[in-house]
Amino acid sequence: MKFMSIQEAMDKGKGKVSIRGWVYRERGSNKLKFIVVRDASNIIQCVIDSGHRDWEVAKSLSIEASVEITGTIKEDKRAPTGYEIHIENLNLVGESDTYPITKDQSPEFLLDKRHLWIRSRKLTAVMKVKHTVLQAFREFYIEKGFFEMPPPILQPNQCEGGSTLFEVKYYKQKIFLSQSWQLYAEAAIFGLEKIFCISPCFRAERSKTSRHLSEFMMAEMESAWMDFDGLTGSAEEVVAFIVQRVVEKNAAELELLGQDISKLKKIKAPFPRMTYREVLALLKEKEGLDIKFGKDLRTIEEDKIMKHFDKPLIVTHYPKEIMAFYKQEDPKKPGTCLCLDMLAPEGYGEIIGGSQRDTDIESLKKSLKAQGEDPKDYDWYMDLRRFGSVPHAGYGLGVERVVAWLCKLDNIKDAIPFPRTMLRWTP
Ligand code: 4AD
Ligand code: MG
Repeated sequence: MKFMSIQEAMDKGKGKVSIRGWVYRERGSNKLKFIVVRDASNIIQCVIDSGHRDWEVAKSLSIEASVEITGTIKEDKRAPTGYEIHIENLNLVGESDTYPITKDQSPEFLLDKRHLWIRSRKLTAVMKVKHTVLQAFREFYIEKGFFEMPPPILQPNQCEGGSTLFEVKYYKQKIFLSQSWQLYAEAAIFGLEKIFCISPCFRAERSKTSRHLSEFMMAEMESAWMDFDGLTGSAEEVVAFIVQRVVEKNAAELELLGQDISKLKKIKAPFPRMTYREVLALLKEKEGLDIKFGKDLRTIEEDKIMKHFDKPLIVTHYPKEIMAFYKQEDPKKPGTCLCLDMLAPEGYGEIIGGSQRDTDIESLKKSLKAQGEDPKDYDWYMDLRRFGSVPHAGYGLGVERVVAWLCKLDNIKDAIPFPRTMLRWTP
C-alpha cells in the first residue's frame, strides 16, 4: 500500500488509506484505543479495539513512537480534525522512551529540549510560514530580473559597527562573521546590476530582548541605478507581497498560532511614511516623549510610535551621525540620510533597514574615521567608487522579525529552529 500524507488521506475522505507518522496523543480503555497520529501535514485520530490482532502493539505505544497505519478513513465530527481511521494494520516502526515534554513546560525547558520541541505543532507551523516568507522574497526579486548571489560569511571588515562583530580565528589572523552581505553586494552590482541574497548574519548583541538573535537570516537586495524612491517602493511592495503570500498559503498555520488573518489581509501598499523628524514630533505631541534630534530610536520609542499605526511604517531621514558609514546624506535635507527603517505593527520592531549608498570617497572616509575605523582597511570598497561608480541602493530584511510578526510570537527565538543569543547556544 502506498503511503499518503494525513492531509491527503483526509482530502480523500473515505475508503482505504495508509499513513505514517508519530503518536501525538493517545487515550482509551481496555476495550478501545484512540491514537492521534501526526505527520508534517496534520493530525488524525485512529481507533482500534481489543479484539484486533494488533491490540498488543496499540497498547504498547507511547507518545512520539513512530508508526505505520493502514485502515479505513471516514468523517467523524467528534475527532479532532473531523476524520477518523479505523485501523486494519498497525506497525510500530520506532519505540519511544518516556517523552520529556509534557504540557505547560517553561520556555527555558523547551529551549533545552529544542531538538525535540522542534517537532511540536507550534514550531512546525512557524517553520512553514518561514518557508513561505523565504520563497516569496525569492520569487518577488527573480520575477523582477534580480540574480541571487550568496555572500562570503568570513569577512575582514565591519559593516554595521564594530561593537557587534563576532571574531573568528582565521589561521594565524583574525576575521569576522558576516553582519551583512551589503559591502560585497555593492561590488557585485557592477556585473549583475540587480541582485539579492538570503543568508545568515551574525551579531554579538548584548541586549537580551525578545527581538535580537546572535545568528539570524537576512534577506537583502542591492541594485545599480536605483534611487531612494525606487528603494522605498521596492521594500514596501515586497513586504506586502510576502504578507499576502502567507495569508494565501498558511491560513491553517496562522489559525493554529492564534493569528488574526483578517488583520494581515489589510497589509497592502501604500504604507504610511514619515521622516525621523516627524516621528520625534509625533512622540512629543501624542506620547509626551521629548527625544533630542540625533538620538537613535530605541525599542520603547518604536513601540510607542507603532501604537498609532496598524500597517508597517516607513521612517526615513535619520541623522547622518548615528547611521552606518555607507549611508548617503540627502543634499536636500543636510544632516540626514537617504535611508529608511520599516517598523512592523504591534511591537515587532524594525523589519527592514536600507539606504541609498554614499558614492563619495572623501565623505565615506570621514564617516569611517568618525566611527574609529581606519579607511585604509576599506580601500577595496573605495575602488567601487573609483571605477565607474553609479548611484545604487539596497536594504536588508530581518526574516525572523517578519516571521515573529506574522506568527504573533512572544519571542523571536521561536522564529528560528535553533536560536543563538548571548545566553543560549545549545543544542
Ligand atoms: O538595519 P540593519 O543592521 O541593516 C543592515 O545590515 C544593512 N547592511 C542591510 C542592507 O542594506 N543590505 O539590519 C537589517 C535588518 C533589521 O532591520 C532587522 O530586521 C534585522 O536585519 N536584524 C536582526 N534581526 C534579528 N536579530 C538581530 N540581532 C538583528 N539585527 C538586525
Ligand atoms: Mg537597522
